[in-house]
Amino acid sequence: MVTGGAGFIGSNFVLDWIAETGGTVLNLDKLTYAGNVGNLKSLQGDSRHIFVQGDIGDGELVRRLLAEHRPRAIVNFAAESHVDRSIHGPADFVQTNVVGTFSLLDETYRYWQGLKPEERERFRFLHVSTDEVYGSLGPEDPAFCETTPYAPNSPYAASKAASDHLVRAYHHTYGLPTVTTNCSNNYGPYQFPEKLIPLMILNALAGKPLPIYGDGLNVRDWLYVRDHCEGIRLALTKGRLGETYNIGGRSERSNIDVVRSVCRILDELRPRTGAGYASLISFVKDRPGHDRRYAINCGKIERELGWLAGKDFDAGLRETVEWYLANPEWVENVRSGNYQRWVELNYTTRESL
Ligand code: NAD
Ligand code: TYD
Repeated sequence: MVTGGAGFIGSNFVLDWIAETGGTVLNLDKLTYAGNVGNLKSLQGDSRHIFVQGDIGDGELVRRLLAEHRPRAIVNFAAESHVDRSIHGPADFVQTNVVGTFSLLDETYRYWQGLKPEERERFRFLHVSTDEVYGSLGPEDPAFCETTPYAPNSPYAASKAASDHLVRAYHHTYGLPTVTTNCSNNYGPYQFPEKLIPLMILNALAGKPLPIYGDGLNVRDWLYVRDHCEGIRLALTKGRLGETYNIGGRSERSNIDVVRSVCRILDELRPRTGAGYASLISFVKDRPGHDRRYAINCGKIERELGWLAGKDFDAGLRETVEWYLANPEWVENVRSGNYQRWVELNYTTRESL
């Protein structure tokens, strides 16, 4: 069972899982603005994918689904995931990421208790989390490792940190067989265009400004989404119980460098008349509490589980730009009235610097 499997990473995971293992997936997703069943179009009519629209916080629904489908593992992607939205409206983040995860854990625990001993032994609850729970690094600080103390700075990060702690507690207190993964920034196909890379690609194609927060020197570590999915599959099958695994791309880039790279690729693939795409870059008012740098030490998952990031950032970024160019219908579908309202709320209040 996958939760949030109609979102960016969840849908990539469902597509990969079915392609790689041939197994069946029960997909529970609330279909918030970020959920899009169109991501799973290639599975239409495929009996290996069962989609249910619903909330991870709906205990009755989750209880019924668990009893009916008897999953041997749960992978929890469902979350509110965008930092800027968490600044404008933190309540939904607490509701889904904290209360929802708690409810899902509690129902899972009851279900797991009722399994036969050999099924209990095999069962896993994998919680998908983020590097943002560790806070912000200085330029010379060592990368986050699994023992770095939690220091979340945004309402999003705080809500994910709380969910990680609940997962930890359900393992330590009740013995629930959990594994947690904390990953760096993902990019790739099907990412909702509120996040940096798809927002910049689509704004550039529309000839709109490319809004860089602050000085553009904030650093993120970037990982191709399918590499993340492979890390989750490994953690699910081989991860040690109660452990956390950091997953990262060893690809630290400043935001301005990422955006300039997007512009260079577009200049080549879809040249515009007049000045190149970089002329659209516009520095705007910074995100409040903007974390300066994230970096992941992913040595543990590499050593223990044999995971390695396969996709080099430059190649992955080019493929991602190509995907957005090749899928204008997908783009049109997700840019609904709701998206327009978000763009107005987040960007009209950010005067240029
Ligand atoms: P996303 O916003 O694209 O997708 C989230 C999905 O969860 C959507 O399909 C949404 O409809 C669903 N959802 C939201 N609330 C729900 C609820 N109450 N019940 C059921 N479904 C609900 O997010 P994403 O980028 O795919 O991230 C997935 C997970 O990975 C999140 O937990 C996020 O914290 C984590 N993560 C994301 C990144 C990243 O760079 N995107 C990096 C590390 C970790
Ligand atoms: P984002 O994709 O929102 O991911 P996160 O906040 O989880 O790292 O943002 C990535 C970086 O890009 C972050 O430092 C904020 C910056 N950013 C901009 O400069 N402009 C934008 O319009 C957006 C959405 C993000």
